[in-house]
Amino acid sequence: MKKPLFYLLSFTIIACSSPKNDEIQAAVVSARVEASEIGLDVLKQGGNAYDAMVATSFALTVVYPVAGNITGGGFFVYRTADGETSTLDYREMAPLQSTKDLFLDENGNADPEKSTIGGLAVGIPGAVAGILEVHKKLGSMPLEDLIRPAIDLAEKGYKVTEKQARSFARYRDLFIRVNGEDTFFAQNFSQGDTIKNPALANTLLEIAKNGNRGFYEGWVAQAMVDKVKATGGILSLEGLESYRPVWRDPVLFNYKELGLISMPPPSSGGICLAQMMQMVSEYDIKSMGFNSTETMHLMIEAERRSYADRSHFLGDPDFVHVPQSELISKSYVQERMSSYSPSKATPSSELAHGEIQVMESDETTHFSIVDSKGNAVAVTTTLNGAYGSKVFVDEIGVFMNNEMDDFSSKPGVPNMFGLTGSEANSVAPKKRMLSSMTPTIVTKNDKLYMVVGTPGGSTIITSVFQTVLNVYEHGMGMQEAVNAPRFHHQWLPDRVVLEPNKFNNIIIEGLQAMGHNISEEYSRIIGKVDAILVDDSGQISVGADYRGDDAAATY
Ligand code: DON
Repeated sequence: MKKPLFYLLSFTIIACSSPKNDEIQAAVVSARVEASEIGLDVLKQGGNAYDAMVATSFALTVVYPVAGNITGGGFFVYRTADGETSTLDYREMAPLQSTKDLFLDENGNADPEKSTIGGLAVGIPGAVAGILEVHKKLGSMPLEDLIRPAIDLAEKGYKVTEKQARSFARYRDLFIRVNGEDTFFAQNFSQGDTIKNPALANTLLEIAKNGNRGFYEGWVAQAMVDKVKATGGILSLEGLESYRPVWRDPVLFNYKELGLISMPPPSSGGICLAQMMQMVSEYDIKSMGFNSTETMHLMIEAERRSYADRSHFLGDPDFVHVPQSELISKSYVQERMSSYSPSKATPSSELAHGEIQVMESDETTHFSIVDSKGNAVAVTTTLNGAYGSKVFVDEIGVFMNNEMDDFSSKPGVPNMFGLTGSEANSVAPKKRMLSSMTPTIVTKNDKLYMVVGTPGGSTIITSVFQTVLNVYEHGMGMQEAVNAPRFHHQWLPDRVVLEPNKFNNIIIEGLQAMGHNISEEYSRIIGKVDAILVDDSGQISVGADYRGDDAAATY
């Protein structure tokens, strides 16, 4: 395995703080230590992985307001210890009064601000209905016991981390612009401060007492509708009441001896991951080497081809026909790679056309859970951008999502992740916007092997792709695989985004010589992967991404 020097150094530091593998029976890995510990406490009390999912989700809402949420949506993938699998889609829906041209200005041009900031960007939240559905179908503990730790956290408060203080400061002006000077997050929060959010504690209590009705009806629903309308949106009580999560069959596929279980549409994650992994499966990636020019070129070309398909074919399967089985069939995937040259980049313009836009900062969050029985849970949930639409409903203590930007406002015009879309992902009432979230469970020889996922917008799928290969092909441990430098190509814009200062010049020049347009200047953090590995002898190990405040809790 070839590794850049920098990478060896960074891994050594982080590996020292990893728990000892042989002690681990169960693990929760999430964006914040408080949330991981709350999930783990549930497991210690005899709850299962699904109970821990409920508790962790509510805890993240409190302690990780940038992305943890009850006002966004997400995807849940599970595999029981007996090998049963399914997925729950609790993605947001477009409000009832949505129209196809919702985000176009008077000249018919897409207005990116309308779909990202303020009330119009807000989709009907799916998170509460989703979390409660998981509890109803799979949970074993009383709901109140699973929400209580989050209520306590909101009442007693949590400590602001250094990264969090920077994030609050960065968005403060925008919070004030959207919500006025009296809004909760207009306060200056510094590292080490304690944040208490009594309004959110009340909201959570209402959900604990009344379930879905405590959120989708009554004063909580009214507060959301009033605030979203006051900031230019169209969310309605009828829309909130109409929200339902949907159980969907997972995308299942094989890579060598691995079996992968991932999220189907309205996520693009499962299909694109299946395409990319199958596109590279005939190659001996192990001997080609970790992040060598040869391996990166192959993976980039797979990514390019898959994202071109994403743009054209994918949307909400309840509204458009998604040719899922064709897209992930071996023969189709091989055909897509027939234009692949091992020595030359295929210009994206020869695959299709589009426009270029710089990607901006954003947030989502993923967590992975394995309980002592071997039940596994992968959850990715989002408000879309950091703090969603920045619309903060002070009465209930939460930010509203800006998931509407994940629709294609106009065919061919990129969204905030630079992703283009087609008619398949146009806005329509009650339609779910296309997602890249890729919560994934991997088996090896039919035994649980890995639970993995990440935030990162369009870079989610490529981060999962690379993390799985880092472990399986390059023999890395879980934390090492998470730490490893990442790269990304999404067909359009036609460039390879690298994590800055992590790839040496020899690699970069090698890729440029093949015709790749390399961008370190536009690059940003590519994902925050939180993952769990169960090795061939049944030992559990964890990977919590150092790029955030992510942390594992294990026993
Ligand atoms: O569903 C999606 O694909 C996006 N809303 C995810 C946004 C995201 O990951 C931002 N995080 N870093």
